[in-house]
Amino acid sequence: MTKMVDGCGDQCENTQLPGASQRLEKMQGHWVLVRAGKRVLRPGGLALTRRMIDALSISSDDRVVEFAPGMGVTARMVLRRKPFQYWGVERDPMAAAHLQSLLPRDSAQIVEAPAEHSGLPDACASVVYGEAMLSMQTPQQKKRIVSEARRLLAPGGRYGIHELCFRPGGISEAIRREIEAEMSKEIHVGVQPLCSIEWKELLEQQGLKVTWCGEADLDLLEPRRMLQDEGIFRCLKIACNVLKDGVLRQRILAIRRIFQRYREHLGAISIIGIRLIPFTTR
Ligand SMILES: C[S@@+](CC[C@H](N)C(=O)[O-])C[C@H]1O[C@@H](n2cnc3c(N)ncnc32)[C@H](O)[C@@H]1O
Repeated sequence: MTKMVDGCGDQCENTQLPGASQRLEKMQGHWVLVRAGKRVLRPGGLALTRRMIDALSISSDDRVVEFAPGMGVTARMVLRRKPFQYWGVERDPMAAAHLQSLLPRDSAQIVEAPAEHSGLPDACASVVYGEAMLSMQTPQQKKRIVSEARRLLAPGGRYGIHELCFRPGGISEAIRREIEAEMSKEIHVGVQPLCSIEWKELLEQQGLKVTWCGEADLDLLEPRRMLQDEGIFRCLKIACNVLKDGVLRQRILAIRRIFQRYREHLGAISIIGIRLIPFTTR
């Protein structure tokens, strides 16, 4: 059964931040960033998100499902386009409750569920998208989530992803494994990015025809991108939080070092696939 999250209405920020129950030393990297005050958690930043939303052409006719809305940054951008319906499917109970408390209940419904089993009806959506969530899944989970996106889409519907990607140019299997191991160690989440061709294949194997692709650098924790994504006041707040708390500082710097060390091999990618009919699984 679909578990809809109760909320207290518009702009009521009275729930705990996700990750609040975990020790900072062991907290998953995205909740560490949230603890520091960061709200934009996807690898290509707001600029790549904007390009993805434009390419998805979301309008007031659309029924939209977002997988893993996190802190609701993209949800707010999409809600400004006044879609006919918006569901956010979030696995983390604290994130789901926090998000529902921030978004108006009459225009956004948050479902507490894993994206691979959203519990939403077949063909209920014209647009499904998810950011910075597939990269942290195993190959089997990636397939299940894309297959769920396809199930939710009506024929002709669009699915958008925005994820980490290995850059082309013959990245060796050894470097790939090294990056996955180092990122998983520092971020405390199993991270398994794909190359752009593998992301496209993942969508195509689930019956989606790739129609658009955009790429960006992985500058999530670089000053210029931070300013673009968070704005000057939130950046100052983040700087204060990081200066005040040594463990927080250590965790953020360790994540940034990994991004910098593997800069030449890692980037961000966004892809859109259209649901084809008829469909047979390969
Ligand atoms: C890195 S954050 C990204 C949040 C947001 N999409 C953004 O880009 O700012 C990862 C999010 O994915 C959620 N998540 C991870 N696996 C999930 C799954 N299988 N189903 C639903 N949500 C999931 C986490 O709870 C978290 O909110």
